[in-house]
Amino acid sequence: MNKPLILVGGGGHAAVLTEIINSLQHTLLGFTDIQPSDDNTVLAGLDFLGNDPVIFSSHHPDEVSLINGLGSTGDTKQRTTLFNRFTAKHYRFTDIIHPTVCLSPSVSYGQGLQILAGAIVNTGTQLGDNVLINSRALVEHHCTIGDHTHIASGAVLCGSCHIGQSVHVGAGAVINQGVTIGHGAIIASGAVVIADVPAGNLAVGVPAKNRPHAR
Ligand SMILES: CC(C)(COP(=O)(O)OP(=O)(O)OC[C@H]1O[C@@H](n2cnc3c(N)ncnc32)[C@H](O)[C@@H]1OP(=O)(O)O)[C@@H](O)C(=O)NCCC(=O)NCCS
Repeated sequence: MNKPLILVGGGGHAAVLTEIINSLQHTLLGFTDIQPSDDNTVLAGLDFLGNDPVIFSSHHPDEVSLINGLGSTGDTKQRTTLFNRFTAKHYRFTDIIHPTVCLSPSVSYGQGLQILAGAIVNTGTQLGDNVLINSRALVEHHCTIGDHTHIASGAVLCGSCHIGQSVHVGAGAVINQGVTIGHGAIIASGAVVIADVPAGNLAVGVPAKNRPHAR
């Protein structure tokens, strides 16, 4: 039997996930956040359980599964930290895959995968833990995507790309076939990446130019 779920985080990404979870008829106990409940207006109607540590004090890892409610708009540190904080205490994160997603049966993935409406993930691709593939993104064949990486809405990864851990690939960006993106890199929205991006770099523009980022 599926365990009841708790959504960790109460912003816009969490609101999108809530609709999917409800449509899949999972039991959602409520959400936690670092903010007081008054600030969580987008999740009106869903029970606010308290600040994130309430999970440790009130819900044993055997009794609930978690959902990472944090997206990213530039760096992925918060969603990476959240996942590591709870898995270190033996909590598990549930996969959320929208019914319209086209996911090749040959794709392998870790825990806590999220793939949102209209996304496609093609043959032979390997996804790590806590990967987020946002609405209408396209991940072509034989890509690898590291833990905690976010492929934002409408981004395109051509075949055999290698994307490191905790990378943000911005909305509508295109990564050419065979390109490698290093850990912690940020790809700006709309960038067209035609060459490798070193770890910790920001790639911006068409064609994209790289520079270190301080995030
Ligand atoms: C690249 C990015 C991380 C930079 O954010 P930032 O550090 O706050 O940058 P700023 O908005 O202060 O802009 C800094 C400069 O970069 C330029 N810039 C910012 N984003 C850009 C983009 N996507 N493409 C081209 N230039 C960009 C700005 O025009 C500005 O130029 P200037 O210095 O000549 O005025 C951010 O703009 C971005 O693209 N984020 C991804 C958005 C996304 O994917 N959201 C998730 C949707 S699901």
